[in-house]
Amino acid sequence: MTTVAPMGIAATLREATTPEHRDTETRSFVTELMSGELDIDAYVRYLAQYAYVYRALESRTPNADDPTFLNDPALPRFDAIVSDLEHLGAADWETSHPALPATQAYVDRVLEVADDLPRYVAHHYTRYLGDLSGGQAIAKRVRDHYGATDDQLAFYRFDVRPGPFKVEYREGLDALDLDDAGMDALISEAKLAFRLNADLFEALGAA
Ligand code: HEM
Repeated sequence: MTTVAPMGIAATLREATTPEHRDTETRSFVTELMSGELDIDAYVRYLAQYAYVYRALESRTPNADDPTFLNDPALPRFDAIVSDLEHLGAADWETSHPALPATQAYVDRVLEVADDLPRYVAHHYTRYLGDLSGGQAIAKRVRDHYGATDDQLAFYRFDVRPGPFKVEYREGLDALDLDDAGMDALISEAKLAFRLNADLFEALGAA
């Protein structure tokens, strides 16, 4: 049986994760990074940890019945992150910045749910819609505060216009065929995905 979320799946997901979004974006590592209190090395430490996360997110083999937004060629970020790291002097990121335990926990969870569609979608949504939203503000701050150059900020450059793309992405979410259990899985996993990001920020702040 298909559940018709009264607000639509995308709006339901957004509303359900609003507290987690607020909690994640106000972790001190994030606010300090955004306000210019850190330095470019802190940004490199952050970016290297996300290289592991995106490698996991993008290692999934697509399925024939996947919704199209899931495998949109405009989204993958791993190659851009590695290129940024190279231009930031951290081509050796795997040895110079090993995965922190919080990163490894995030990676393990993404790999564990890669074939569970609603749960994988939750991770996809949390990162890529975030990159197309607040990520654009992060790029501006890293450029303005720490002097990062275009070559070092490919992570945030998409071959699509973020605004219209996000509209399409939300339409893709709304078209998912989810029963009640699938909807619950999507929401609870998205909340977990935000918490995994918050844990990673905590670890980066403590490092
Ligand atoms: C510096 C920190 C952040 C800022 C300033 C920020 C800001 C924003 C803003 C303004 C939006 C709304 C954009 C719109 O309506 O089009 C947004 C959406 C979003 N952000 Fe963030 N964000 C931050 C961090 C994060 C993080 C760390 C994540 C995930 C780990 C994240 C995930 C998302 C997602 C998934 C959305 C889309 C919500 C939806 O429309 O369903 N954000 N963010």
